[in-house]
Amino acid sequence: MAEFRLPKNSRITKGQEHKASPGATRVKKFKIYRYDPDSGENPRYDTFEVDLDDCGPMVLDALIKIKGEQDSSLTFRRSCREGICGSCSMNIGGKNGLACTTAIEDIKGEVQITPLPHMDVIKDLVPDFTHFYAQYASIKPWLQTVTTTPSGKERLQSPKDREKLDGLYECILCACCSTSCPSYWWNSDKFLGPAILLQAYRWLADSRDEMTGERLDQLEDPFRLYRCHTIMNCANACPKGLNPAKAIAEVKKLAAERVL
Ligand code: SF4
Ligand code: SF4
Ligand code: FES
Repeated sequence: MAEFRLPKNSRITKGQEHKASPGATRVKKFKIYRYDPDSGENPRYDTFEVDLDDCGPMVLDALIKIKGEQDSSLTFRRSCREGICGSCSMNIGGKNGLACTTAIEDIKGEVQITPLPHMDVIKDLVPDFTHFYAQYASIKPWLQTVTTTPSGKERLQSPKDREKLDGLYECILCACCSTSCPSYWWNSDKFLGPAILLQAYRWLADSRDEMTGERLDQLEDPFRLYRCHTIMNCANACPKGLNPAKAIAEVKKLAAERVL
């Protein structure tokens, strides 16, 4: 049987071990992916012992404590600390999620943390979102209209039409879904992936938007939309409880109804 190994410079090596301070009472180990492409060194896993009796309850609390007390070079993104900005998305214990809303006590044993899968890494836990954001821009994520309203008048929406945006507007663009989607892993150059397709449906579902035809034309492509094979990893991964697969099915339905 053929055996494949990662290229030499991609193999993850064993890194440094950082012990908890003497007298620590409840020690938990965090095994964290470290990589600095500019250094020319291979990626490695560093292990940090953290005293949970002197740390907040969430994975982000532990990362902040490690950075503050053990290794200031540890690099990760965070901002809101309450699951709203989407910047602390990473893979924690083998599952994509937000570090600020993942409780340490929910992870048994050592906590392994890596960047979101299948993304280029800028440094440590920071993936490169350039392509993801370009894909987001490509769906023109803003209200587009052709008619005009009388000057000073708002474009109104009934409560029933507003409800159609529930389950869509809450998306924080964290990319946990897209980076857990096998179709996106293999074809992210052409497939838009669950996050961006959910956003595309958010504008298709908006009763005030008047570019439905153009939006569907733009998605009508064997890769952009139809690389979704309903594997449903996206819905399992979403930390906001959204269902991108359902949104994608709705887009496909709109496209099919158009042809009939
Ligand atoms: S349902 Fe579609 S978008 Fe979601 S994980 Fe599966 S292939 Fe990807
Ligand atoms: S659908 Fe969920 S997992 Fe995907 S980007 Fe939006 S919030 Fe994140
Ligand atoms: S820090 Fe904003 S979502 Fe985690």
